[in-house]
Amino acid sequence: MEQPTFSKGLEGVVAASSDICNIDGNAGKLYYRGYSIEDLARHSSFEEVTFLLLNEHLPTKTELEDFQGKMRKSRALNPEIREMIRNFPAEGKPMELLQAVISYLSGYVEHKIQHSAFCDCRITLHQVVQLASVVATYQRLKEGKEYVEPDPTLSHGGNFLYMMRGKKPEDYEDRIMDVCLLLHAEHGFNASTFTARVVASTVSTCYSSISAAIGALSGPLHGGANEEVLKMLDKIGSVKKVDGWFAKAIENKQKIMGYGHRVYKTKDPRAVIIEGFLKELSEKKNDFRDYDILKKLEAKALEVLSTKDNPVYPNVDFFSGSVFKLLGIPPYLFTPIFAIGRVPGWLAHILEQRKDNRLYRPKSLYHGPDPRPYVLTEDR
Ligand code: ACO
Repeated sequence: MEQPTFSKGLEGVVAASSDICNIDGNAGKLYYRGYSIEDLARHSSFEEVTFLLLNEHLPTKTELEDFQGKMRKSRALNPEIREMIRNFPAEGKPMELLQAVISYLSGYVEHKIQHSAFCDCRITLHQVVQLASVVATYQRLKEGKEYVEPDPTLSHGGNFLYMMRGKKPEDYEDRIMDVCLLLHAEHGFNASTFTARVVASTVSTCYSSISAAIGALSGPLHGGANEEVLKMLDKIGSVKKVDGWFAKAIENKQKIMGYGHRVYKTKDPRAVIIEGFLKELSEKKNDFRDYDILKKLEAKALEVLSTKDNPVYPNVDFFSGSVFKLLGIPPYLFTPIFAIGRVPGWLAHILEQRKDNRLYRPKSLYHGPDPRPYVLTEDR
């Protein structure tokens, strides 16, 4: 019998066709449904990109107003969810809290919608919206402060900052946070998106798909490199120490965090935009420590590490942790923020999977023992 082909980690395997996201790793380009990330970052918003990903086209003015209105109405957390956050064990991880809340939210959705095999997750938009409110409230309560009611005049990103800090963000902070979420909204067939699609292929609900995707994202090989970048910056300490630290890192074959990418063979287009935000925030807050270290590190790494055969450049995580830090967000919320941003992408993939579904059921190569007789306990 012909042996099936095997690719560890499914590397190089095409597992589906998709109309959602296109990445040109050599040119450093990323498109959501054909729109470049640069155009979207300049002109769009997280809410509009959510509409685009879920509905396959940019909204008209009326569609956008209607969609935004619905999203903003879903921001407030009901008392049960606030209590759930309050009672979450202090040692628990916020990603696990997000999984639990998503599962809990399913209970609020009409039985008919929830359990219809191909339920339209565009109807249950609170999955997109409430994750941000949950993360903000988690931080408020952790600091011993009270829940803040959402502000419908703010963008999705701006309202997240408001609900977390209890103080309205500056306009530039509102825009930067919102665009950072937009830049995380979709990125093709990564591990969490694939997870969401596998669960969707069983005709399970979008709640179980999203909860599973959050679980996949919580692993350190997927989310969390920007948190590591901040630790690296603290170890380096100042721009003067970059040369010495870098030489030692190379000697010890240590990876530069936030650097390199499986797909991008040039600077990640999201890193280009986020670097601009870091520069802007550093100027506004008169705090250039991270920006200066990162620029020097980038130059050193380009000079020493990057070759024609092995091009390595900053990825999305290189500058984002410092941006979040300057926005007052603690590092343990960086991966939950990734989830807040990515949920529209997951939902778009769930809808796409449902449009032309086939249950995922790959094979494995068996290397275990040959058939053998069962031995009774007393004879072992
Ligand atoms: N620092 C130093 N050298 C690097 C780095 C880096 N960050 N990234 C790649 N290289 C070098 C490797 O040492 C290797 O060189 P060699 O062939 O001489 O041994 C070569 O480039 C290829 O590296 P691989 O790790 O094999 O490349 P791969 O495509 O498998 O890895 C990865 C990509 C995992 C992202 C890697 O670049 C890395 O570990 N980066 C640091 C962690 C990080 O930033 N992760 C976030 C990724 S983006 C995201 O998930 C949202």
